[in-house]
Amino acid sequence: MKLNAAEQAMLDGDQGIAKQKAMELLLKYGEALGAERLVDTNNVVGTVGTATPFVRDYAAKASGFDAVFSEFNLDSPEVIETPKFSAYTCQVIHGVDTEHWQIQGIAKEVAELQTRGEEYFGKRGINMLATCTPYQVGNVPVLGEHCAWMESSAVVYCNAVLGARTNTEGRESTGAAGITGKIPYWGYHLTENRRGTHLVNIECAVDDMMDWGLLGYHLGEVVQDDVPVLSGITSHPNQIKLKHFGAAAASSGGVEMFHIPGVTPEAQSLEAALGGGTRIETLKYGEAERRRAYEALNSTARDREVDFVMLGCPHSSIEQIWLASRLLEGRRVHENTQLWIFTPRSIKSIADRNGYTKIIADAGAVLMSDTCPAIGRVMPKGTRVVATDSAKQAHYLPAIMGVQMWFGSLADCVDGAVNGRWGGELR
Ligand code: F3S
Repeated sequence: MKLNAAEQAMLDGDQGIAKQKAMELLLKYGEALGAERLVDTNNVVGTVGTATPFVRDYAAKASGFDAVFSEFNLDSPEVIETPKFSAYTCQVIHGVDTEHWQIQGIAKEVAELQTRGEEYFGKRGINMLATCTPYQVGNVPVLGEHCAWMESSAVVYCNAVLGARTNTEGRESTGAAGITGKIPYWGYHLTENRRGTHLVNIECAVDDMMDWGLLGYHLGEVVQDDVPVLSGITSHPNQIKLKHFGAAAASSGGVEMFHIPGVTPEAQSLEAALGGGTRIETLKYGEAERRRAYEALNSTARDREVDFVMLGCPHSSIEQIWLASRLLEGRRVHENTQLWIFTPRSIKSIADRNGYTKIIADAGAVLMSDTCPAIGRVMPKGTRVVATDSAKQAHYLPAIMGVQMWFGSLADCVDGAVNGRWGGELR
């Protein structure tokens, strides 16, 4: 890879050993992927925390967070002091809600470890957004901005909906990017890789959030990591629908970019979305495909008694909390069921001010932040049957936690929580 003088100096160790290790890591990564150079980035979403049990165990054994950062972010068994970050860097979702750790059944020392980690890395310049939806809480890169983001649902939103540019980065590359302000220039940083590859003719109504989740789930499975272009949508999607569409497509497949002419910023027209590509595959999405996606998402479910209802994957916006609280107001969650709703902590503070958190609590549900069941590996004790309105969570939770899973609309989920029984169906 070609380096400029400043990059070469970092690689030579002029700015300390941490940046030197980071540059070595970025070069190895870039060369493996065929990148010819690095690109500047001042927008990183990654993790330095102790979200997963594996890293937590390591943190408990190793002396201090520098050991965690060295091992897991710089791939260095030699412990190096974590430097101040030079690029604007935000923490992605964590493993523990430090306000609700007891309800989540998490040990006190684990919650304390997370709090200490936040303080430690916060002082080094990691902004503790602690969410998979940084774009909902102030990190909104602009069209064409080069980013280095982790978390597949955030990556596809960043590329497709915001028009900023990122590949799906990992813990190591985001750690290295955060302290150097560099990331390999390959994949979705290049205009030619952002063009549509599949033209999808939509032949049925795609209206609510559940519809968009089903469409994304179907398309991810079909196009895998290619770039679908949607044609013939019947209603203009909002943020919630695009968020669920992308998250679903990135789960069943590896979609990191899509276009919707007239909606997403790099698709002013169908021609612009396809970018003059000559080998475009054409697909259709109709009632049969919609039903197949619904059945696949419900394929693990047998028992209708629901133990746990999970909302907020990806993390809920304030609009979604408002909708859920309207559905819950004056009702009560069934005694054998628990309902947890997940959102970024800063959105929860708005929900607190608006009284939504109280409505949710009065109904016997809990509004949580900073984590989710799939990342934290946390669910109410004894959970066997789960319901959710998220295609992504429905895709992962049976595999990760060995549970049965129902997928449906927000209203189906709230009704399931109140009745303790799943009654959703495809309408
Ligand atoms: Fe976010 Fe967890 Fe879903 S990270 S996208 S809430 S699986």
